[in-house]
Amino acid sequence: MDHFLYRDGALYAEDVPLAEIAAAVGTPFYCYSTATLTRHFKAFDEALAGMDHMICYAMKAASNQAILRLMASLGAGMDVVSGGEYARAKAAGVPGDRIVFSGVGKTRDEMRMALSGGVRQFNLESEPEMEVLNAVALEMGVVAPVTVRVNPDVDAKTHAKIATGKSENKFGIPITRAREVYARIAEMPGLKAVGIDVHIGSQLTDLEPYRQAFTKVAELTEALRADGHDIIRLDLGGGLGIPYERNNTAPPLPKEYGAMVQEILGHTGCEIEIEPGRLIAGNAGVMVSEVIYVKQGEGRDFLIIDGAMNDLIRPAMYDAHHDIVPVVEPAPGAEQQPYDIVGPVCESGDTFAKQRMMVPLAAGDLVAFRSAGAYGAVMSSEYNTRPLIPEVLVHGDQFAVIRKRPSFEEIINRDTLPEWM
Ligand code: LLP
Repeated sequence: MDHFLYRDGALYAEDVPLAEIAAAVGTPFYCYSTATLTRHFKAFDEALAGMDHMICYAMKAASNQAILRLMASLGAGMDVVSGGEYARAKAAGVPGDRIVFSGVGKTRDEMRMALSGGVRQFNLESEPEMEVLNAVALEMGVVAPVTVRVNPDVDAKTHAKIATGKSENKFGIPITRAREVYARIAEMPGLKAVGIDVHIGSQLTDLEPYRQAFTKVAELTEALRADGHDIIRLDLGGGLGIPYERNNTAPPLPKEYGAMVQEILGHTGCEIEIEPGRLIAGNAGVMVSEVIYVKQGEGRDFLIIDGAMNDLIRPAMYDAHHDIVPVVEPAPGAEQQPYDIVGPVCESGDTFAKQRMMVPLAAGDLVAFRSAGAYGAVMSSEYNTRPLIPEVLVHGDQFAVIRKRPSFEEIINRDTLPEWM
């Protein structure tokens, strides 16, 4: 459930009509609901209540300072994958010992930044990275807490671009090599292994791949303990999917996920870390856009809207489905017609939906893309010199712009001319 519902014929975000926000900030814009973000965080927190746990929000999903502060105030730690994300987490007041550093290509600078600012652990993804972190830690005279991200070679049964747990993917160290790798870590004075990390992919709609991966992690925990390593933490990554097609899909709920984690890993006594992103932010955000033109093509009608692929790239990049609904509630049983819903960018790929059934719409009407809170604003660009669209946060009957739309001047002034020009 989210807090974007029709009320008196209009789509609201909590207690604010989306049309009111559109009038104040212009379209297109992203709008997030505090109540939904909070609800999703708590769903995970309650699902893991029986175990010592920490929810490290995967801020790559939506990393606005206001969202991070909200998450931190609820008790979240953060999962970061770059120096920039680390800086954002710190700027939002998250203490270093609640920040997990993931990512397949951490640089020396990023390692130094996290070691000096504080870090809960680095999730190591390769042996060369392990050697570099050891060297950096020794130079700084500190010991870096680490886990090894193991690649369990399971099929996450999700879109190929976001599956990460098969041996052909670039992520992690093959689980079959894990014991050797932990033995090497034990000999490196700059590293201290504290646990195991695994993340098999994103938008998982079935618990079975998790079950397979976590069973392998449980076995590895025992084997590593028998080898003399002090495994106290298991980072299980993120990836639990959300229902993008409201009436069609019902992925497992956090409480079912939590029960499965308890069943498979509860006996280890380890602290459980999870890194959910999409499930927290996805259905807590919408993108609102205005119809610019309705164009009659040959055999099809195009709804040309002011949002485009640079604002929300998921349909172009992953053929992703987003429910698109009119901001004025259609009359019950109103006739629908098929539209191709497209943006103004000069590429055929700038298509959000083909032959989508909608009630008839006209220029000036507003539509909302549901489930756009995760991997929406963060993946946007200024392609076609279209300014990054504003982000708005709603809280009850209040709303605030949490990232403003830059002016053309601000965009142009970021460029500098070489002195010979
Ligand atoms: N932890 C790690 C190590 C990850 O790589 C990811 C996502 C997460 C946690 C969070 O996964 P989530 O709970 O959000 O599924 N841009 C794509 C999704 C890319 C996911 C990348 N890694 C999309 O729009 O579908």
